[in-house]
Amino acid sequence: PHALSTRQYLTDLSTSLFSFVLPLLPTAEELATKEEVRVLIERLIKTIEPSSRLASFGSSCNSFGLRNSDMDLVCLIDNKEAALHASDLVAMIGDLLERETNFEVKPLPKARIPIIKLTLQPSPGLPYGIACDIGFENRLALENTRLLLTYATIDPARIRTLVLFLKVWSKRRKINSPYKGTLSSYGYTLMVIFYLVHVKNPPVLPNLQRIAPLRPMTKEEMTLEGRDVWFFDDTETLRKEWSSANFESVGELLIDFFRYFSHDFQYNNTVISIRAGHLTKESKGWMNDIDVGGLNENARDRNRLCIEDPFETPYNVARTVTKDGLYTIRGEFMRATRILTARPERAVLALAELCI
Ligand code: CTP
Ligand code: MG
Repeated sequence: PHALSTRQYLTDLSTSLFSFVLPLLPTAEELATKEEVRVLIERLIKTIEPSSRLASFGSSCNSFGLRNSDMDLVCLIDNKEAALHASDLVAMIGDLLERETNFEVKPLPKARIPIIKLTLQPSPGLPYGIACDIGFENRLALENTRLLLTYATIDPARIRTLVLFLKVWSKRRKINSPYKGTLSSYGYTLMVIFYLVHVKNPPVLPNLQRIAPLRPMTKEEMTLEGRDVWFFDDTETLRKEWSSANFESVGELLIDFFRYFSHDFQYNNTVISIRAGHLTKESKGWMNDIDVGGLNENARDRNRLCIEDPFETPYNVARTVTKDGLYTIRGEFMRATRILTARPERAVLALAELCI
C-alpha cells in the first residue's frame, strides 16, 4: 500500500503543479499591451537613431514569463558608424521618453551596463502597471533567451512547469533578489536546465551546445562578440530525433531537484555549467578567496555560488549571491524538500505551504 500511495502522491503533486502554474501565466491581453509599449518606444527611439531596433528578451519571450513580470528590452543599432555612444544615447532617449510618454523614467547612463528604467504606475486598465528595463546592444542576451526557449520547447510540460514554479516559489520566499544577495530568475533557470541535462540519469534534456550541427558551420557563424554562441536550435529535428529515456513526473523531478541542491551538490568547489556539466571552481579561477587583499570587500563573496553563463563563460551569473544569501537559499531548498516529502493528504496543501 505504501508504494501505491507514493505513486498516487507524485501524480497528485504533478497535477497540482500544473494547476498552480496555469493561472499565473500572462494573459493574451497583457502580452498585447506589452507589445504595444515596445512598438511605441521603438518608434520614439527611431527619431533619435533611425537605424535602431528595440527587441524583447528575457521572460517575455523565453516562455518562462509570469503574469505582470517586467519587460526586458534591448536597443540594437544596426548602422554602427552613425551610432552615438551608449551613454549619450541613454541620456537622450531618457529625456525624450520623459517628454513624450507617461512613464516614470530613470536613465542610468553610468551603470556598468547603461540602462533606462521605465515604470508606469498602476491604473484601472493596468492594475499592476508596467516595469521595463531598456538595455543597449546586449546581443548575447537575445541568444541566451533563444537558448532557454529552445530548451523549453523540447519538453514544455516538464520544463516550463518546473521553471515557472521555481520562479514563483523563489519570489514568494524572497530569494530572487540579485540586489539583496540572492539569485536572479535567470540563475534559477540555468540551475534547472543543468539538473535536467547533467544531473538526471538518464537525462531529461540533451545538451544543445554539444549536438553537432546538421551542416558545417564557419567560425564566423558560430561567434558573436567573441563568444561561441552556437547551439542546436532546429526544433523540428529535435522533436523527431530526441526522446528522453527519463519518464519521471514533474512532481518527482521537483522533489529531487530540491534534494540535490540541498545535500548533494558540492557548493564549495563546483561550478554549474549547462555547456560543460560539473566544472571545478579551480579550473575557472573562481575560488572564494580571490582578491582577499582587501581591494574589494565584497570580492570574497563573489563566487560562493557559481553558475557559468552559457555563452559569456567568464561571467558568473550567481556572482550576486553572498555567503548569507547562499545560506538562505540552501535553507529554502531544505525546507522545500522537507515539506514535499512529508506527503500531506493533498499535494496542493504542500505547494501552498511551500510558497507562503
Ligand atoms: N540576463 C543575463 N545575465 C544575467 C541576468 C539576466 O544575461 N545575470 C538576461 C537573460 O537573457 C535573461 C534576461 O536577462 O533571460 C532576464 O533575466 P531575469 O529578469 O533574471 O529573468 P526573467 O526570465 O526575465 O525573470 P523575471 O520574470 O523574474 O523578470
Ligand atoms: Mg525579467
